[in-house]
Amino acid sequence: MTEMTPVTDAAATKAPETPKKMAVPDAQTVTAVQHWTDRLFSFRVTRPASLRFRSGEFVMIGLMQTDAKTGREKPLLRAYSIASPSWDEELEFYSIKVPDGPLTSRLQHIQPGDEIILRPKPVGTLVHDALLPGKRIWFFATGTGIAPFASLLRDPQTYEDYDEVILTHTCREVGELEYGKQLIEEIRSDEMLAELIGEGFHEKLRYYPTTTREESPKMGRITDLMRSGQAFEDLGVSPLDPAVDRAMICGNLAFNLELKEMFEEYGLEEGANSDPKHYVVEKAFLD
Ligand code: A2P
Repeated sequence: MTEMTPVTDAAATKAPETPKKMAVPDAQTVTAVQHWTDRLFSFRVTRPASLRFRSGEFVMIGLMQTDAKTGREKPLLRAYSIASPSWDEELEFYSIKVPDGPLTSRLQHIQPGDEIILRPKPVGTLVHDALLPGKRIWFFATGTGIAPFASLLRDPQTYEDYDEVILTHTCREVGELEYGKQLIEEIRSDEMLAELIGEGFHEKLRYYPTTTREESPKMGRITDLMRSGQAFEDLGVSPLDPAVDRAMICGNLAFNLELKEMFEEYGLEEGANSDPKHYVVEKAFLD
């Protein structure tokens, strides 16, 4: 990432400057990269020894970039939900590839051994602490919005705190569901979770994937499927009730707003870390 300073005549006559190797601040090393579709990829990086986070939180990550005006290197950072659970030795992220996106147009080319910047200050609202106790928890995601739930779904607390855990994931195409599909399969056969929570824990976990632009077994936006009652019928549960249900939302802005409006109609109230209630929302971060 270091830029060479061109040697001009003037510079050549001065005492030679010590070449400056720009160290990447808060560097972590990429350990694995997986491309899911031409628009989606996930990657794993080393975890700073001191980093503690609550499942569902996000951190700022990025790469160094050269400032067009000054020619100096500076960090280009974006918020990324941590997709791995808090007990994992490494950190996992799930990202979209935006062709013209300042960060993801470059980030999509990372390889194991490369360094990225990771600011070790986790924050976020999609945490258990922001919800009152309940019987059933819903995770509503579109696209890469599944990332914080990939963390929460691998956290034993999710199954300890709730009798039922429902993940809904709406994507445009079938290939975009693959990350979530494999995640669910992995969780269902996870021996450590089974040991911690009991063999039958995965019976608590329900998965409701839908597509909107490509044929799949269940088509439609989750919002429409809830409004028509179809989603509740398919899952064999009653519509959301503040006495029983808790929910977390992470998707594109329109999706978040539409669900918020529906939840308020069901009588659910939005919570926060300092004021736990029935549901919490976070935007899936796009480049
Ligand atoms: P649709 O194909 O009908 O727009 P995106 O990739 O644009 O972020 O969208 C991801 C998924 O979220 C798509 O399946 C998209 O459906 C769906 N979606 C977009 N807006 C909403 C909304 N307001 N409510 C529910 N689903 C939505």
